[in-house]
Amino acid sequence: MSSINYSEKIPNNVNLGEDRTLQRALEGWQPNFINWWDDVGPDGSTNHEVYLRTAVSVDPQGWAQFGHVKMRDYRWGIFLNPGDANREIHFGDHKGEKAWQDVPGEHRANLRRIIVTQGDTEPASVEQQRHLGLTAPSMYDLRNLFQINVEEGRHLWAMVYLLHKHFGRDGREEADALLQRTSGDENNPRILGAFNEATPDWLAFFMFTYFTDRDGKFQLSALAESAFDPLARTTKFMLTEEAHHMFVGESGVSRVLSRTAQVMNELKTDDPQKVRAAGAIDLGTVQRYLNFHYSVTIDLFGADQSSNAAIFYSSGLKGRYEEGKRTDDHVLKGQTYKVLEVKDGQLVEKDVPMLNALNEVLRDDFIKDSVAGVGRWNKVLEKAGIPTRLVVPHKAFNRQIGALAGIKMSPEGRVVNEMEWAAKKDEWLPSPEDFAFVASLMGRVVEPGQFAGWIAPPVMGINRQPVDFEYVRFG
Ligand SMILES: [Fe+2]
Ligand SMILES: [Fe+2]
Repeated sequence: MSSINYSEKIPNNVNLGEDRTLQRALEGWQPNFINWWDDVGPDGSTNHEVYLRTAVSVDPQGWAQFGHVKMRDYRWGIFLNPGDANREIHFGDHKGEKAWQDVPGEHRANLRRIIVTQGDTEPASVEQQRHLGLTAPSMYDLRNLFQINVEEGRHLWAMVYLLHKHFGRDGREEADALLQRTSGDENNPRILGAFNEATPDWLAFFMFTYFTDRDGKFQLSALAESAFDPLARTTKFMLTEEAHHMFVGESGVSRVLSRTAQVMNELKTDDPQKVRAAGAIDLGTVQRYLNFHYSVTIDLFGADQSSNAAIFYSSGLKGRYEEGKRTDDHVLKGQTYKVLEVKDGQLVEKDVPMLNALNEVLRDDFIKDSVAGVGRWNKVLEKAGIPTRLVVPHKAFNRQIGALAGIKMSPEGRVVNEMEWAAKKDEWLPSPEDFAFVASLMGRVVEPGQFAGWIAPPVMGINRQPVDFEYVRFG
């Protein structure tokens, strides 16, 4: 067994070196983490030296140190944002009381569940993305994939730290189970649906990091409000890393669109078959991928009405997105919110107690944020003189969770019957042909400064390095 000096090897600002019990617990878990990384982490990457950003402290100089490292030797640090000893709970029934430094007994089971559910998504996405390195469209993109992978690994460490530090034996068991579930596994899958879907190609990867990492942003933002101070401070720091993941998705799709628009203009065509024949991804395929990832991701926010959501809020465990900036009473009793329900086969709005609708509130905040970026994608098409626009589908399209799961909808929000759904499905969601076509474009391009033909180069490199910088040294 390895004898790692954690206070040196694991960058941290939680005084790891002074807590022997915690240190021993993490020492027991660490080899299992490395085994997991070797088994289901980035395929064939062991000997690569990657130009990675490593966080060595939470201050502006320390959280983004760049240099070439082997991913296996990445220093998965444990960081909490600086605390405020006088911090007060600012929502729910405990509003105005002091924030908790330890887990109150009555909220222990719920807090553990929240942390485990968040923690489970982190290794899941590494597993979902594990083969993508073999088909990277450039060395720059390969580096970004690996950056996301190591940071999701660090996010797992962040949640495991909380479980080990604050939840005793059952926390340690949960930390072990985080390495035992596997994305897409029939017998022991990851907890949430979207984290068991395949990420088969780079268009899927960009959509995933745009939409599904953005779910991460909203969940982490809600947890950053928590009355349980260590959780609030941990998730606040995770958010600084999440921004890059969403950037990879947004700029990735932009670059796909920019290349497609160029091909359409060169060939003076909007015929998808001609665009495909020229080796670019037709806009219909991009729209269908968007429809899929958007609908699967908004399911992650859970049922539109949920008594758990009310309990989590009222007891101070999980706030709303930007709770502190809102001007209401932060207790929400007696307030209502509009949700959709299916009545006689049609969608109708109804008012429900807001506390029970907080999943829907967070989902709606997510939707607003998502739509803004889709607008920026459309600017790429507009600038290129292409009249087609991408749109997010209706909220009830392709839902599997909540009241809307019981209805079939077109992307524009028209209720359809099973027959029409079956007939149109391949126009609305990626078809086997779409996946096969996109897969046919996925060839590995890793010469510095070279890019696959279906994607435009980025506007600039990472950390002010040139685009043709040697981001990965192959060992
Ligand atoms: Fe994450
Ligand atoms: Fe992420």
